Amino acid sequence: MKTIIEPFRIKSVEPLRHTTPEERERYLQQAGYNLFLIEARNILIDLLTDSGTSAMSTEQWAAIMRGDESYAGSESFFRLKRVVDDLTGFRHMVPAHQGRAAERILFAVMCKPGHVVPSNTHFDTTRANIEFTGAKAIDLPIPEAADTQAQLDFKGNMDVAALESLIRDAGASNIPLAMLTVTNNSGGGQPVSMANIEAVKQVCSRHGIPLYLDACRFAENAWFIRTREPGYAEWSPKQIAQKMFSLADGCTFSAKKDAFANIGGLLCSNDDRVFQLETNLLILTEGFPTYGGLAGRDLDAIAVGLDEILDPDYLRYRIASTGYLGRHIADHGVPIVEPPGGHAIYIDAARMLPHIPRHQFPGQSLAVELYRHAGIRSVEIGSLMFGAAARYELLRLAIPRRVYTQSHIDYVVEAILEVNEHKDRLRGLEIVEAPPFLRHFSARFRQV
Ligand code: F0G
Repeated sequence: MKTIIEPFRIKSVEPLRHTTPEERERYLQQAGYNLFLIEARNILIDLLTDSGTSAMSTEQWAAIMRGDESYAGSESFFRLKRVVDDLTGFRHMVPAHQGRAAERILFAVMCKPGHVVPSNTHFDTTRANIEFTGAKAIDLPIPEAADTQAQLDFKGNMDVAALESLIRDAGASNIPLAMLTVTNNSGGGQPVSMANIEAVKQVCSRHGIPLYLDACRFAENAWFIRTREPGYAEWSPKQIAQKMFSLADGCTFSAKKDAFANIGGLLCSNDDRVFQLETNLLILTEGFPTYGGLAGRDLDAIAVGLDEILDPDYLRYRIASTGYLGRHIADHGVPIVEPPGGHAIYIDAARMLPHIPRHQFPGQSLAVELYRHAGIRSVEIGSLMFGAAARYELLRLAIPRRVYTQSHIDYVVEAILEVNEHKDRLRGLEIVEAPPFLRHFSARFRQV
């Protein structure tokens, strides 16, 4: 059989609420054209993020009932630790309430002003947390990734030659760690090859720089390695993930992505001294190291999710269904970041809307129009999110895990193709007010 189906059936449902075009126009005005400020009940299909939005399985819900809420030494912690130890092999692990909490602790311990932290591409919270310590976050994607239309198997790779020259220029002692984001969220959800992880690791080792994975979507990355990188076709996703982790010295992880959890994160390390400092800070701001800001039941949900995410049937469906959305819009003339990524499709808004200049946020304009037209929520990843550091003007359609069916996605395809037909009518936006950090979450706009 060629048809790939959702490898689950639905036991519990949530109704979706339709709104009228007039209502949506009013909600947009009330929200200052910022989709983060629209109430979720007024969204029909929510593709804002794949983070914390997964549907949990019956096994996860059952595990939640087993949660041990002891303040110290909870059974739930040890169940999670066994799974993480087996998967990652890192010497130390602490939970945190989500990925950015792990990032904040890691960078607070490792970074200071004058430091630089290279990555293939830092995500927004990662960049902001590095820069909050006074260090500088540097993106070193491969140059070919600049062309959204280039068809490459591993477009998320880091430019290893650029890493070497950064180390030469900045000095290894000013680089407390290097990072690889798998998959590369800000660069189109594109995977990083095992060969690239190995090459980056080699350079880092030569200079005594620890390599950390931002491992949010490690399982999707492992699936791409299995299907695209020679030599891995017979490996299980888990074996590939284990090898990825074995090449790193630590990781930050948001369990809200590839662990099907609604909340949670992890910070892992092989360095005893760093881990001690991290634990001290964790107790100060997150909680005791056996719960790290989470309930015991959350730890159990993550433990089960980390196992389920590596199911080949799930990953085959996951990557195929994201590709389905991508192909159906790209083949009808909507420019996307090619090839389709793992967790999301990214429309190249600069290419689709050449009449809207970058400083008027073409990605945001498209996000607003897609909501206005069909009640779909998406997110700008471009000059609004990253300011001058933006490499592209993208609109991300992130797909929550195990939540929407193919007919929901067919509706999204139809809506995007209809918007594409009247794209010349879209106008840019101007910021009316914005906070100093992570402005995309709360800025308000005026239509130009
Ligand atoms: N790193 C990456 C690559 C991410 O995509 C995210 C979150 C984080 C770190 C932070 O994790 O949300 O648990 O604090 N990305 C979400 C998104 C928010 O929509 O892409 P968190």
